[in-house]
Amino acid sequence: MQPSVQHEESPKEKRRKRFIEQKGLPKAVDRGQFATTYHPYDGHSFQALSGLPPNLQNFTVLGIESSCDDTGAAVVRSDGTILGEALASQSHIHAPWGGVVPGLAKEAHEAEIDRIVQEALEAAGMTSAADVDAIGVTVGPGLEICLRVGATKARALAVEHEKPFVGVHHLEAHILMARLPYDSASKQLGFPFLALLVSGGHCQLLKCTGIGNMTVLGGTFDDSLGEAYDKTARLLGLPVGGGGGPVVERLAREGDPTAIPLSVPLQSRKDLDFSYSGLKSNVRRVAERLAKEGGVETPANLPHPIKANLAASFQHVAIQHVEQRLRRAMILLEEEEEEGIRSLALVGGVAANQVLRTRIEGLCKQRSWDLWIPPPRLCTDQGTMSAWAAIERIRVQSTDDPTIPDVYARYPFAQPFS
Ligand code: KG4
Ligand code: ZN
Repeated sequence: MQPSVQHEESPKEKRRKRFIEQKGLPKAVDRGQFATTYHPYDGHSFQALSGLPPNLQNFTVLGIESSCDDTGAAVVRSDGTILGEALASQSHIHAPWGGVVPGLAKEAHEAEIDRIVQEALEAAGMTSAADVDAIGVTVGPGLEICLRVGATKARALAVEHEKPFVGVHHLEAHILMARLPYDSASKQLGFPFLALLVSGGHCQLLKCTGIGNMTVLGGTFDDSLGEAYDKTARLLGLPVGGGGGPVVERLAREGDPTAIPLSVPLQSRKDLDFSYSGLKSNVRRVAERLAKEGGVETPANLPHPIKANLAASFQHVAIQHVEQRLRRAMILLEEEEEEGIRSLALVGGVAANQVLRTRIEGLCKQRSWDLWIPPPRLCTDQGTMSAWAAIERIRVQSTDDPTIPDVYARYPFAQPFS
């Protein structure tokens, strides 16, 4: 597939292109198998020259996110009000490649970062980062060269304006979005709670007991749910730029979810882990058989109604797998009476999916659990999540030194459950 954007390829990118062609896309994923490295309280809390915001009831934070393929910035007030947001999506850049190409993503972040930060500040009625009380930025996990663009910008602003700085953990930021008070009249999700994090890089069930205090109950052995959507989209020849989920969801609306029988993964394993690579191969095998029977070259050339049935059947079974694992996690926590956890946060990019939202809502109703899901546009990556996660960290007096330049491609934050 040829990219439509004009871009001279470096030798490194040529190698990467060959790698992508032979082995598929690289992953910006940690699967929780590495030692715990996220200790928001273990290091010292860095005291910015300007000091922590004097009035913890009411302060503003500029948040920046560049961990993958969206350049996002937002100014959020500590009561949860989003004062200004800006987001540059790169889907048009990556679509011709069938997925995110890190080198192109980095260039696009570099091209957009200043404009996006300025736009978010202006939307909040501010003229520069001098007007906010603190700055937060995603420092991991993600694509290292992309993380570095946002982190460098945020750190430079924090040093220039002597602001408190928070290096935000991207997964924690997704999870904490369920705690943002979306409407000041409604109450806020309190700790402890169960989180189901379903994104492009991750698929995890976590017990969340506090800021920086999360335990992985189950994770994926292979692909995440978002990757499964993306690969299904690619198989069916649908445009995959920033992610294939939305196009598969749209196509699935026109199909019959029971038309094509597919196996629900991990039926014999009674634990809380996930696996999506078997389902991916299952869909591919069926699609290739249908293509052969229909006399077309590839599944991408199948007639629209058959593709819609494939999309709907994939989605149905993919969500059944989530429901089964989630139900088991709920039972486990219901039995831990002393914790009394009866709240679920459904977060990450795939939580934008309407069918998933409705089905998880049904499960929560059945078991009398409270469900907290951010609005769809705040499930996928954007700047508000970095700002809000920084607000949560500042509230517990935890900030970082902006002069330490590290970013973390892999950044586990939770102990495996034992
Ligand atoms: O959280 P996110 O924006 O980035 C990561 O941190 O990975 O998630 C992106 C993932 C992609 O795999 C995308 O296809 C999926 O979320 N996604 C969806 C939907 N919207 C985004 N999957 C299914 N249905 C959707 N509506
Ligand atoms: Zn994300």
